[in-house]
Order: sequence, then C-alpha cells, then structure tokens
Amino acid sequence: MTAQPGSPRILSPDAGSDPAPAKLNESSARSMLAVRQIRLTDFRNYRQLRLDCGLEPVVLVGGNGTGKTNLLEALSFLAPGRGLRRARLDDVCRRQVRGASGGEEPAATAWAVAATLDTPEGRLVIGTGLEPGRNEGSLPRRVVRIDGKPASSQTALGLHVAAVWLTPQLDRLFLDGAGERRRFLDRLVTALHPEHAGDVAAYENALRQRARLLGEGNRDPHWFTALEDTMARHGVALAAARADTVHRLDAAARLGIGPFPRAALAMAGEIDGWIAAMAAIDAEDRLRAELAANRLRDAEAGTTSCGPHRSDLAVRHLDLDLPAAEGSTGQQKAVLVSIALAHARLVALSRGRPPLLLLDEIAAHLDAERRVALFDEIVALGAQSWMTGTDAELFAPLGGRAQILCVADGSIVAV
Ligand SMILES: Nc1ncnc2c1ncn2[C@@H]1O[C@H](COP(=O)(O)OP(=O)(O)OP(=O)(O)O)[C@@H](O)[C@H]1O
Ligand SMILES: [Mg+2]
Repeated sequence: MTAQPGSPRILSPDAGSDPAPAKLNESSARSMLAVRQIRLTDFRNYRQLRLDCGLEPVVLVGGNGTGKTNLLEALSFLAPGRGLRRARLDDVCRRQVRGASGGEEPAATAWAVAATLDTPEGRLVIGTGLEPGRNEGSLPRRVVRIDGKPASSQTALGLHVAAVWLTPQLDRLFLDGAGERRRFLDRLVTALHPEHAGDVAAYENALRQRARLLGEGNRDPHWFTALEDTMARHGVALAAARADTVHRLDAAARLGIGPFPRAALAMAGEIDGWIAAMAAIDAEDRLRAELAANRLRDAEAGTTSCGPHRSDLAVRHLDLDLPAAEGSTGQQKAVLVSIALAHARLVALSRGRPPLLLLDEIAAHLDAERRVALFDEIVALGAQSWMTGTDAELFAPLGGRAQILCVADGSIVAV
C-alpha cells in the first residue's frame, strides 16, 4: 500500500470490517473505555483515515506538522465540548490542498469523526461532525449520533465518553488567567458529572444575553428576571459540581503519585463560599438577588460582577509548599500530570472507567524518572491513553505495553 500526499494511508487494509475483538481479558475490557476504531473524513489534514486499535495505550510519533495533534483533537470531539483546540467548527474542515498531480483539491465544507468504542456498557459507535445545512441558506451544524441515532445534545456524549487532555498550551495553566483554569477544571468536572457541560453552556449563554441587554441599554425587568433565573439555577448547579469534584480531587492529589508532587486544590470565589456555607436553593436565591441588585453597576462596568464565571481554581505544590505558579516549568508540568492522574483514578473509581487521556507532547519537560512513572501509572490505570511526540526514544520505557504508530503527512502506520 502506498501513501499519496493528501490521501492518507489507511492502517487496516480490510475496509468495512468490524474492529478486532479485545486482546485483553474480558473483565479488564468491561471496565475500560477504549477506542477500537476511528474514522476521519475531511478532518484538518486527514482527507480520509481509518485506524484500528487495541486496548493498550497508543503512542503517535512523527515529525512536526504531520497530524499528531489533529488526531488527538479528533478524539477530543468524542466528549462534550469544542475539542482540545476550542476551534471554530468550520476551521476544522480540511483546507484546500495541492494534490500530487499539481491540481488543487477543493476545501471541504463539512467534517466527520466516527469511532467504535469499547465501554462498560458494551460496544458503541459514536459519530460527530459538522454537517452542511439541510436547505439552501441554512447554516452547517454540529451533529452527534450514538449508535446511529441522533442525540439531542452533546451531554449524551458525556454519558459514555470522558476525555481529559494535556497539551503544550496547558503548560502555562497556572500562569494564565482564571478563565483557562476554569475551562480545564470544567473538563475534569464533566468527566465525573456528565450534565456539567450542559449547565456551563446554559449559564454562559444566559450570561452573554444579559450582558448584551445591559450593553443595549435595555431595562425590561421581565427579560432580566428570566435570564437571571437561568443563571442562578445553572450557575449554582455548576458551582456545586465544581465544589464536589475539587473536594474529591484534592483528597486524591494530596497523596501524590510516585515522583509526581502532592498537590492541594481549592475553589476560590464568592459563589464558592456560598456553596460551602448554605443549601443550594439558598445559594440560588442569593445569586438571583445579587444579579438583580447589580444590573446598573454591571451595565456601567461592562462586566457581570457575581457568579461562577468569576471563580478560580487555586492549586498548591505541597512538596514545595508554594502556589503551583511559583514552581519551575517542569515542576508546574509535574503538578498538572499529578492532577490528571489523580483525576483519572477518581473517574475510574466513580464511573467504572478511566477517561481517555489525550497527552500531547507529554514527554516534554518531564525527566526520565517521571516519564517512566507516568507510563507505569497509565498502564496500571488501564486507561487508553493517546500520547504524541516527535522522538520515539522517549517512549522506549513503555516497551511492548503500547501501540506505537508512526504519523507522516496525514497517514498512519504501525511501527
Ligand atoms: N483545516 C485544516 N486543513 C488542512 N490542514 C490543516 C488544517 N488545520 C491544520 N492543518 C495542518 O495539519 C498539519 C498537522 O498539524 P498538527 O498540529 O496535527 O501537527 P503535529 O503533528 O501535531 O505537529 P507538531 O509536532 O509540530 O506539534 C499542519 O501542517 C497544519 O497546518
Ligand atoms: Mg502537535
């Protein structure tokens, strides 16, 4: 089989067949979440790809710009949300490319990711992507199908798939603004509380609408009351889910994992204080009242002064006894990996399956001892982790415990 530029080589030659049966024994397969086959259509630099895989961790090795992160991004769309790049959906469509013959292949206007997964509920086919508008003039839209049936919202994905990713951009998580940390945390929360993604979306939508009304000088109390009620209900639900996750994650991360540091986590924010001090229903009333009282002030300031969008995740490196942001680059990365591993353990215990771990350029900044410990922990967790790197040598300690795949210009072959 030869790979054509722009025409990706398909790993498995038996197109159309089902993914292979699990190699690990049945009991381990039952408690796993594993992608057994992934198919991409017009997804970034992949015109078409079909990749069959086993239950073991997957390592994607290849040069810069070959499509490693793109494949992780495709996998990230199997969980609720906008994927690991938070890209606009139409940016994900394969761009116009010059074919081998010199001719132009037109840009795509839609894309699709379909995956066959082993889950504790059995084998499942998930499809998602951007579909062209149904009628002339209607806009393309994101669709989700589970076992061929359309799902009404992305929350349905969260019932089956939890995915957590670490990317090079997250190396700055503790130095960046609180918004990045909230987004990272919300992914961890969604893995434990699948409805969380829906609460966040509903809250943010109402928050934006209220801000727009304020900006337009609208003072109609009915509009505000309705929007602030939505913000109070979803805002308190999402803050309570964050509080629960952070509480459990703090207990797990304080233990540390091998050479990875012990870490302490806490929510910091006004609403987080209410959640700790009063019943949810009272916290809702409090938020409703604060929002109503602050309309004028918010209109003048051009911000919304109260709510879970103001909260932050505070992380401390316990071995250094310092805020995580004050550690070195490598120490910050080690804290991040500590949190991700503690979270994977927590999700495995609580939902009977660890999340899919998408670890982009994971070996960067980790010393040899930590790399070995990370690989051992991933294997012990039974997590199907997808790792990328430009240097295969760094993954040598995995030995035969992982599937090593070589990525080259939108094609993937097993090593
Ligand atoms: N919408 C798109 N259509 C076609 N190609 C795209 C699109 N978006 C990104 N690409 C290209 O896909 C290629 C692979 O990108 P990707 O980020 O996956 O590389 P990578 O293998 O992770 O590289 P690195 O090691 O540098 O991180 C890049 O050349 C990029 O320009
Ligand atoms: Mg990359």
